[in-house]
Amino acid sequence: MRLRNIKGAKKKLRDNPDYVVSDPVSKQGKWHDVFGNNHPIHLEIGCGKGQFIVAMANDYPDVNFLALEKYDSVLLRVLEKQSEEKLPNLKLIRADARHITSFFTNDEIDGVYLNFSDPWPKRRHAKRRLTHMRFLKRYYKIMKNGSFIRQRTDQFPLFEFSINQFIRCIWLEIDALSLDLHRDKDINHTTEFEDRFIQEDKRIFFASLTIKKGDDPHEKNL
Ligand SMILES: C[S@@+](CC[C@H](N)C(=O)[O-])C[C@H]1O[C@@H](n2cnc3c(N)ncnc32)[C@H](O)[C@@H]1O
Repeated sequence: MRLRNIKGAKKKLRDNPDYVVSDPVSKQGKWHDVFGNNHPIHLEIGCGKGQFIVAMANDYPDVNFLALEKYDSVLLRVLEKQSEEKLPNLKLIRADARHITSFFTNDEIDGVYLNFSDPWPKRRHAKRRLTHMRFLKRYYKIMKNGSFIRQRTDQFPLFEFSINQFIRCIWLEIDALSLDLHRDKDINHTTEFEDRFIQEDKRIFFASLTIKKGDDPHEKNL
C-alpha cells in the first residue's frame, strides 16, 4: 500500500512518542519494559492502515501488539486510530521489516501476522516477499519456541511460493492451511484489504505455522 505522501506525516509520528516508537533499535530486548508488563508480544508486519491490529489490541488486552509499517503516511492512519482508542497494549513502529533482527532480541516475539503482504510477482523481486527464506530466518531468530506465524493473502502465487518456503524449514510446523479462509472459519478481525477482497468475492488463502526451536543441527545453518 503506497498512500499519497501526506505532508507532515513524519513529524506527526515523531510528536507521538507514547504510541510511536521512533528508535526501535534502542528497544531491542526491552519491549516488555516499553509495555510495562510481561504479556506476550504479537507483531503485524506491513500493518497498512491498522484496522486488524487495532481491533485485536482492543479484544486482547493481555497481549501486547506491535504494528510495523514501512511508510510514514500509511502508519499515520494507524496513529489516527490509536489516538482515538488510546490502547495501552499497542505501539507503532515505522520501519522496514528487513531490519527486524536489530529491533528484537532472540525469542522476544510470540506471534507474527503477515496480512496481505505485497506479492512482488516478478521473479527477480522474490527476495522482497515477506515469506522468502531470508525473512523466515529473521523471524526464527526473534521468535520463541512454540510461537506462531499466520499468513493471509488473496494471491495464490504468493501463497504457493510461501508454502514452498515453509516446507524447506525444518523448524517450521504447518498447523493449518485454508484455500478459502472465510468459508472455513468465522473471522472476527479483518484488514482493510481483506474487506475489499471479500466484497469482490475473492478467496482468502491462510496458513498457520508454529516455530519449533530445539537442538536440531540444521538450525545451525540459520
Ligand atoms: C498490501 S498492503 C496490506 C496492508 C494490510 N496488512 C491490509 O491487509 O490491509 C501491504 C503493506 O505492507 C507494507 N510493507 C511491505 N513491505 C514491508 C516491509 N518490508 N516492511 C514493513 N512494511 C512493509 C506496505 O507498505 C503496505 O502497507
